[in-house]
Amino acid sequence: MLEALNEVESQGLAAIKDATDAESLEAWRIAYIGPKGRIRGLMPMMKDVPGDQKAAVGKRLNEVKSALESAFEARGSMGGGKSTKLGGPMLDLTEPGVIDTKILGRRHIIQRVRSELVEIFARLGFEVAQGPELEDDEHNFVKLNIPPAHPARDPIDNFYVDDPNEVGSPRMLRSQTSTVQIRTMEKMAAEGRTPPVKIVSPGRVYRPDTVDATHSFMFHQIEGLHIDRGVSMSDLKSTLLQFAHAYFGADAEIRLRPSFFPFTEPSAEFDMMIALKPDEPAKWVELGGCGMVDPNVLQACGLDPEQWTGFAFGFGIERIAMGKYGIPDIRMLYENDVRFLQRV
Ligand code: DAH
Repeated sequence: MLEALNEVESQGLAAIKDATDAESLEAWRIAYIGPKGRIRGLMPMMKDVPGDQKAAVGKRLNEVKSALESAFEARGSMGGGKSTKLGGPMLDLTEPGVIDTKILGRRHIIQRVRSELVEIFARLGFEVAQGPELEDDEHNFVKLNIPPAHPARDPIDNFYVDDPNEVGSPRMLRSQTSTVQIRTMEKMAAEGRTPPVKIVSPGRVYRPDTVDATHSFMFHQIEGLHIDRGVSMSDLKSTLLQFAHAYFGADAEIRLRPSFFPFTEPSAEFDMMIALKPDEPAKWVELGGCGMVDPNVLQACGLDPEQWTGFAFGFGIERIAMGKYGIPDIRMLYENDVRFLQRV
């Protein structure tokens, strides 16, 4: 009996090392320590052990049994050694989790800034208008007074879309939200309405730019358009100043720099004093363009420029977000690094 016990012990301990996955470990358990296993199989032999040796043999039987059971448990809880399928500690999946409210998800910073901007412009009387991201060059260029030879239409600078069934105007991913100015005025004309028009349109735009700290092939703009009788450049400037104060605080400084856009006349670049990097002093940062809607654009959309005037603007939402929240690199907005997303 003692010999048989020694044999089961040494064979069992050797065999468990060869159990390399959950299946072979279970087969081992059944063969050695299961109810029909070899340890149980030895028990009936106890009755043949002479009375004076029963205590010693019984003790040895228990020893071998627990040695094999602990070997099995050690494998179960420590992982399978060279096993691949048994990797890692055993987890109690029924244990309640630790709830850390700091890591609850929330809306992406770009979406939050977009809502904040819409909210501010809503208070200034602007409604939200939308347009498609897949556009045609009629809306992206032609009606915005951008002539065929204009460098902005270069295929190198735009995502034109191959469309085998193309009829009429070539299609492209819009390169600016100014398209929505046109769509809004067209819709108004189609519905027989006249100005006032006061809309903002936030959304994605696409340009094949090389990605760096300030550029991306996809980014967001917010477009604004206000048309009525007698709208002037001073309305534009006061709207932008009110926006800047509402969003960046009463100390915010703005600057309009003379510029050129085909769809506005006169045109200006809109700058704000902003610290893009937290440890650097504020400097003038260009947030976008603006100006008085060019008479050609009004006319292309069926509005009489003698009766109606308006201003328009288009700002980069990423730029605004970076300035507001001190984000030094645009790529941080798209990498979805959880440490960044939790911080902003
Ligand atoms: N669409 C221009 C761009 O993407 C920005 C812009 C400039 C929009 C002047 C306007 C505007 O509405 O009036 O660079």
